[in-house]
Amino acid sequence: MISTKIAELLNEQITNEQFAAQYYLSMSAWFSARDLDGIANYFRVQSKEELMHADKMFDYLNDVGAQIRIGAIPQPPYEFTDAISIFEKALAHEKIVTKSIFNILKNANDEGDFATVSFLQWFVTEQVEEEASASQLVTKIKMVSENPSALYLFDQELSQRVFNATV
Ligand SMILES: [Fe+2]
Ligand SMILES: [Fe+2]
Repeated sequence: MISTKIAELLNEQITNEQFAAQYYLSMSAWFSARDLDGIANYFRVQSKEELMHADKMFDYLNDVGAQIRIGAIPQPPYEFTDAISIFEKALAHEKIVTKSIFNILKNANDEGDFATVSFLQWFVTEQVEEEASASQLVTKIKMVSENPSALYLFDQELSQRVFNATV
């Protein structure tokens, strides 16, 4: 059985992941509206992954018999100045999520809740990957954003991303 505090933090994290999904969907819409369908696809897939993260937490709370309380998801921004700023915001958001995961992990560790510590290891690894790929995309979009043919290729590259429910 997990403590009320850890259950509360995980319930909040479900909403954080769902907010991230909404945020990425909003970013996807921005690129769709500009016919950059490959980049739009990347953020669509990213959005689905965030919902999968929320589902993982939902299942864990069920498994440990904690009460699940689905929270309200705030509306994400939908106006963006340019492509670079969107990728920068995506990276900044991943960093916030990492901090939040680490905070739950620290609390679970302090309580001796090693089931939650173990559960959250997957998310620690995932966040390292998320930050690395978001950071790499910031570098790439800065390289290509002023060059239409390079941007075209970048869009093609991101069109290849497919959703993998197991990651
Ligand atoms: Fe996530
Ligand atoms: Fe993420």
